[in-house]
Amino acid sequence: MDSGLKRRVVAFADRYNNAFLSGRFSHVERVRKYALLLADKEGADKDVVEIAALFHDIGLTVDRDHHEEESARLASAFLAKTDVPERERKMVIECILKHRSSKKTRTRLLEAKIVAAADALAFLEDIRGLQRLFYRLHGEAEADIFDKIERMYGKVTLPSAKPLTEPLYKKSMRYWKAKLQT
Ligand SMILES: [Fe+2]
Ligand SMILES: [Fe+2]
Repeated sequence: MDSGLKRRVVAFADRYNNAFLSGRFSHVERVRKYALLLADKEGADKDVVEIAALFHDIGLTVDRDHHEEESARLASAFLAKTDVPERERKMVIECILKHRSSKKTRTRLLEAKIVAAADALAFLEDIRGLQRLFYRLHGEAEADIFDKIERMYGKVTLPSAKPLTEPLYKKSMRYWKAKLQT
């Protein structure tokens, strides 16, 4: 991706991601980091996973329950005004639509598996940040965090992501068990 396009993608993503949380939305940066790392391991399309990582949650500003659809809608309107080839645009949209574990959708696209795994890894790495977010948005009960951790863990289907997931999963389970016992 050339630097001009990257700047536009980041600026567009920031507009939504910053509206969603005050300040830089660190979750998105973590997803981006893991998506690029996994794309490197897998020989996947790095531009596709990077754009999808930056855009995957922008729809949260519109409708949380269907945010993957809103993110996809916003992303496709944005991408239509760029020179990103149609094939890659479709891949980005597939990655965004299939990033959630709660929606039982399957994908065969490697890049989409990468973005879903990166989203889970980002969550497991920053469980406290995400928990703060949940409270702010929904007042979810603390106990629900274990379901969410299990769900995130289960969403990593990519073999190359497993060794990264395991220690983060164990660490976050330990953290929350200790925290909720006191
Ligand atoms: Fe999401
Ligand atoms: Fe996310």
